[in-house]
Amino acid sequence: MSMHWSIDHRAEVSSTQDLIKALARAGSAEGAGVQADVQTGGYGRHGRQWVSESGNFYLSLLLRPACHIQKVPQLSLVTSLAIGQTMINLLEGAAPVVLKWPNDVLLGNGKGAGILLETEALRSGMVDWVALGTGINISTAPSELGRALNDFLESPVGVDQFRDAYLERLEHYYTRWKSGGFADIRQAWLDQSYEKGARVQVKIGANVEKGYFEGLDESGNLIVRDGESVLKTISAGEAHFNLPA
Ligand code: BTN
Repeated sequence: MSMHWSIDHRAEVSSTQDLIKALARAGSAEGAGVQADVQTGGYGRHGRQWVSESGNFYLSLLLRPACHIQKVPQLSLVTSLAIGQTMINLLEGAAPVVLKWPNDVLLGNGKGAGILLETEALRSGMVDWVALGTGINISTAPSELGRALNDFLESPVGVDQFRDAYLERLEHYYTRWKSGGFADIRQAWLDQSYEKGARVQVKIGANVEKGYFEGLDESGNLIVRDGESVLKTISAGEAHFNLPA
């Protein structure tokens, strides 16, 4: 079944994420979305501020996948793939786009996008709702480590043009994920990520795992090969690739 997106586009809100969560709790249907030109209280992971001035893209979507809450982190991979594909199609090779596990899209070696997933489960552990927030640097990169898409394009893309292309890609990968699980899009994700064998360090709480990128398993966990060639499966952490030895 195809998705029906129903996007409420506002000039200025505190946070599109807060508005979509209110809609989720009030029983709105999957596919509802709130887009804003400006956010005065935009936030990212770990409660960090997400600077949200005019010219960039801010969207929160309501999803209601019929799955266990344990599978929700896979939606970061689904979303990063959709964002990455959208950028690649627009850039036509003008800048590199690399997917970094678990939820980053690197554009020209900097941060081009942010993905925020918030969710609530039913007592059974099945998902009630997911609020999927995305912030994309279209015309400006608010931080030094950021990159903006239009800095690499000869004809600048508008936020609504980006939104339509992104929603089309997201529908494609989300539908595949719902029917075939992460296994179905795993290769597409890996094709846009680092090369197998790239050096990787993963911070997991106070521990750091060091080794070589081996890939992702069928559930989207990171597989790292350590110096003794032992494979480790990592379900959550902060990864850094290709650091100097
Ligand atoms: C990150 O920390 O990298 C995730 C940033 C997510 C920002 C988006 S912008 C649209 C939506 N509304 C918010 O307040 N946050 C998300």
